[in-house]
Amino acid sequence: MNSAKLIRWFEQNKRDLPWRHTKDPYKIWLSEIILQQTRVAQGLPYYIKFIKQFPDVYALANSDEQEVLKLWQGLGYYTRARNLHHTAKEIVHRYNGRFPSTYAKLLQLKGVGEYTAAAIASFCFDQAVPVIDGNVFRVLSRLKGIAVPINTSEGKKIFKITAAQSMDTSQPARYNQAVMEFGALQCLPQQPLCKTCPLQTECVAYQTGKVERLPVKLPKIKIKKRTFHFVLVYSNDKILLQKRQNDDIWKNLYQLPLIETPNQKSPSNNDWKLFYDKWQITPEHKPEHLSQTNHKLTHQHLNIHFWKLKTTGLSLQAVDIKQLKLYPLPVVIANFLDNYNL
Ligand code: ADE
Ligand code: SF4
Repeated sequence: MNSAKLIRWFEQNKRDLPWRHTKDPYKIWLSEIILQQTRVAQGLPYYIKFIKQFPDVYALANSDEQEVLKLWQGLGYYTRARNLHHTAKEIVHRYNGRFPSTYAKLLQLKGVGEYTAAAIASFCFDQAVPVIDGNVFRVLSRLKGIAVPINTSEGKKIFKITAAQSMDTSQPARYNQAVMEFGALQCLPQQPLCKTCPLQTECVAYQTGKVERLPVKLPKIKIKKRTFHFVLVYSNDKILLQKRQNDDIWKNLYQLPLIETPNQKSPSNNDWKLFYDKWQITPEHKPEHLSQTNHKLTHQHLNIHFWKLKTTGLSLQAVDIKQLKLYPLPVVIANFLDNYNL
């Protein structure tokens, strides 16, 4: 990347924020924790209050948690405040009041993740580690024309490499703040200011008309949890099988007769009674629980129980166990039947 242009832009456009006038790791750490899930406009008054009440890490470490939480009130994600207090005490007691100066050491602090460790290491100690936050993902995906989804492990890997390659390692503190500020003020999520952008000529997204389509983010899928009770209903050499018909997982595959229950529940007496009626069976004993397994599909997490039930005679859809291999079965059921050794 043309970091000279980026940094010139930064020097002319950066906001005057209090944490930009210091290299004190305590202040940088505090500001980055506050800004983790918070906009600058909302976080700024909290930063000012905190610095006033706790001017250094000793003041914060010597306070009690309730005081910290009270000051944090209204900012949300209160784990941040508890971790803040915890880590302040750790810095005082374990590190003699001095923050560690390397990315790896910083990463070990509670509440300090990859982003925050990189911010402190680069802003305060000029370590050449790239910061990667939402702004950086967006700027890099557009500048380099990278369409790999940012919220996948592959995407994270690729953007990490790209960020490291793009970095101006001769001035990590300045460069990192410049990319983030560029994402916050110029290369905006909606309607970025391309017309006045100093990086226009090297921006792949702009040059190829893909600005609106980058970065790519996969929609978060809602995972449905279901509880299945499959019942091995058998008599002599026959078992019951059922074809799945509805528009659901495993459509048109065969399965053992199923009772689906809500919220991880076991089938009630009434569930069993309905089951016997439905399959027109007369059990010779109570249902016997055999095993449990979890099965993950893309959109569903299945909690699967297997039961067995010996009956006197079978009529409906009974299948000879020698014929079983002719039926397409979901793998979890095939595995169960294999292990069960009919
Ligand atoms: N958001 C997160 N960290 C920031 C910082 N140091 N300056 C401005 N906005 C930020
Ligand atoms: Fe972002 Fe537009 Fe500049 Fe490309 S040209 S870096 S999309 S602001």
